[in-house]
Amino acid sequence: MSATWVEPSGTATALLLLGRGSDADSERGVDCPGELPAPSDPDLVARARAAKATLGDRVFVLGHHYQRDEVIQFADVTGDSFKLAQRAAARPDAEWIVFCGVHFMAESADILTADHQQVVLPDLAAGCSMADMAALPQVETAWQQLTEAGVAGQTVPVTYMNSSADIKGFVGRNGGVVCTSSNARRALDWAYERGEKVLFLPDQHLGRNTAVLELGFTLDECVLWDPHKPQGGLTEAQLRQARIILWRGHCSVHGRFTLDSVQEVRDRVPGVNVLVHPECRHEVVTAADEVGSTEKIIKVLSEAPAGSAWAVGTELNLVRRLAHQHPDKQVMFLDKTVCYCSTMNRIDLPHLVWALEELVAGRVPNRITVEADTARYARSALDQMLALP
Ligand code: 13P
Ligand code: SF4
Repeated sequence: MSATWVEPSGTATALLLLGRGSDADSERGVDCPGELPAPSDPDLVARARAAKATLGDRVFVLGHHYQRDEVIQFADVTGDSFKLAQRAAARPDAEWIVFCGVHFMAESADILTADHQQVVLPDLAAGCSMADMAALPQVETAWQQLTEAGVAGQTVPVTYMNSSADIKGFVGRNGGVVCTSSNARRALDWAYERGEKVLFLPDQHLGRNTAVLELGFTLDECVLWDPHKPQGGLTEAQLRQARIILWRGHCSVHGRFTLDSVQEVRDRVPGVNVLVHPECRHEVVTAADEVGSTEKIIKVLSEAPAGSAWAVGTELNLVRRLAHQHPDKQVMFLDKTVCYCSTMNRIDLPHLVWALEELVAGRVPNRITVEADTARYARSALDQMLALP
């Protein structure tokens, strides 16, 4: 562990360490049929190992970088959303893909894998609040209003991976593309070769950060579509002059980092490098030294010189793991308080053991499937992403 690691303090809103047995009734077994092992079971690690050994190559376990250490140790591959989508698509031999991540990632894996492969999400309550901020009826209404305003014809829809399969299907049906935090720039380049404007779903921050900091747009060229207001709260003139129409969605975890957090750490630690995820607010990303996906954050830290200091603005499980892996560097969490993604954290070792043991017993638990028509269009938008130059 980085010698200077300081554990952020807990807050009433940010604890969210679920499945630890502190509230057995509310925390355990959410949408999780069957016998979930007790978190206190001392044999959990041995049980996970044994189940994985029994299943062999028939199972492929994917782990997103925000997963807990107790889970990530059993991942066959770890990655950001892009790498995990690529890897899921590249394992046609595995009968079961156990996705230690959140629901939209498991849906994408189901879309990208063959029909005979089954995708399992160890806890169905592992969703993503950002993905939930864009529902298909809202997006269809928005598209209809853009059509009436005469701008849909010049607009290409682009959705962040962090969206439901329905939204990816909508984007595929309307000639658009999916992107992740590691290829948003290339996805926007692709879109602007095909249209004058982009409707960017559902993360306003990734959209704005990429458009302004990478494509050189002005903030005035980015407008915010509020799905709860008529015509998104925008005038026809605003829509006509916009280059990018940002959906009013955000990540509550990354929304916790503020310009004050950046200034405070710069005052406290002279020479510190600030490294953040592009889901952070625009002013935070602008004030940071480096920005990138979880995979890039890992790469930047692994290449950083010994003795350098890094304040990292992304989910805490990953930042703590990085501090552990780089004892020769000063790695700190950008905020003073705990900042877990509560839904990523729902996948704990008891849920993983339960899912693997169910597979051993011949049952497929918590299978994630996407309806065929939606999957067909979503796949075209995902394939387009995988084919980006
Ligand atoms: P990455 O694709 O960078 O791993 O991000 C996924 C995510 O959900 C970040 O909040
Ligand atoms: Fe969704 Fe934010 Fe969690 Fe990522 S960190 S899965 S965007 S809620």
